[in-house]
Amino acid sequence: MTEPTTGRPSALFDEQRSAEIVAGSFANTPDPRLRAVLTKLVEHLHGFVKDVEPTPQEWQAAIGFLTETGQTCTDTRQEFVLLSDVLGVSMLVDTLNQRSGAELTESTVEGPFHVVDSPPRELGDDIDQQGKGEPCLVTGRVLDPAGEPVGGASVDVWQANDEGFYDVQRPGELPEHNLRGLFTTDEDGRFWFRSIVPRHYPIPDDGPVGGMLRATARHPNRPAHIHFEVSAPGMRTLTTHMFVAGTPYLDSDAVFGVKPSLIHEFATVDDPQRAAEAGLPVPFRWVDFPVTIDRLEHGAQE
Ligand code: BEZ
Ligand code: FE
Repeated sequence: MTEPTTGRPSALFDEQRSAEIVAGSFANTPDPRLRAVLTKLVEHLHGFVKDVEPTPQEWQAAIGFLTETGQTCTDTRQEFVLLSDVLGVSMLVDTLNQRSGAELTESTVEGPFHVVDSPPRELGDDIDQQGKGEPCLVTGRVLDPAGEPVGGASVDVWQANDEGFYDVQRPGELPEHNLRGLFTTDEDGRFWFRSIVPRHYPIPDDGPVGGMLRATARHPNRPAHIHFEVSAPGMRTLTTHMFVAGTPYLDSDAVFGVKPSLIHEFATVDDPQRAAEAGLPVPFRWVDFPVTIDRLEHGAQE
C-alpha cells in the first residue's frame, strides 16, 4: 500500500508486510552494519512469530523467561551466555569466527568460569591444592602454523576438580585459585604442569536455563575437560578445551562444545622413574596437548 499523499510505501502496520515496514524504520541508521543487523533481526523475528503464532499468554511467558534470565545475571553469573551456550549459538559464533586451517588447533566455548585471573605459575607446578583425585601430568608445545615453536606464549588453564566443581562454585570450601594457572612457554614453546584428571559436571542449572533444560528433557552435563587460553604477541588468541577421552557426555555435551580433534587420551603411566621425574606418584595419568595458533595478519586485532 502507498500513502495517497506522498506515493511512498505506507508505514501503517500490515500483517503481510510487517517485517518490511518495521525494517524500513531503520532506513536512516547511519552505521550500515547496525542497519543490516537490525533489518535481519526483524525479518527473522517476524518470520519466527508468523511460523509459531504464539498466543498472548505464550508471548508473555517468553518475555517472563527472558526477564528472569536477565535478573539471574550477577557479577559472577551470566545466564544470557548460558542461554546462548545451550542453544548452540555460542558454538556457532565461535566456529564462524575461527579461521580455517587444517594445522590450527580448533577453538571452543570459553564458558562462565574464567571469572578470576589465574595465578602465574612456574613450569612443572602443581595446580591442584586439594591433594585428591587422579594425579596427572599435562605437557604440550605451542607452535605457529609453520611448525615453529612460540616461546614466551601465555598458557592460561582452568578446570573442575575430581567432583566436577570449579573453585568459584564453592568459595570458602575449595582453595582460592584451585586448579588454575598461568604458565609461560619455554624458548622451545613447551609447557608442562601437574594437576588431577577433571570430572564431568553439570552447568549451573538452578536458573531459567536449567528450567528450560528440564522442560525439554535435556540433561545439563558437560564431558570432562581442561580449559586453555593461549596467547602471544603477534598471534591470535586461542580459547579451547582439551577433553578427556572416554569421559561420559562426549556425544551429548549440553553446550555442543566438543570437536573430535580436542579429545585426548590420558594415558596411565606406571614407570617409577618417569613418576619421580614428574614429581608424581605411581601410577599417574599423562596427556600431551600440542597447540598450533595462528599469526595475526599485519595490523589485525586479536
Ligand atoms: C564450562 O566449560 O566451564 C562451561 C561452558 C559453557 C557453559 C557452562 C560451563
Ligand atoms: Fe568447563
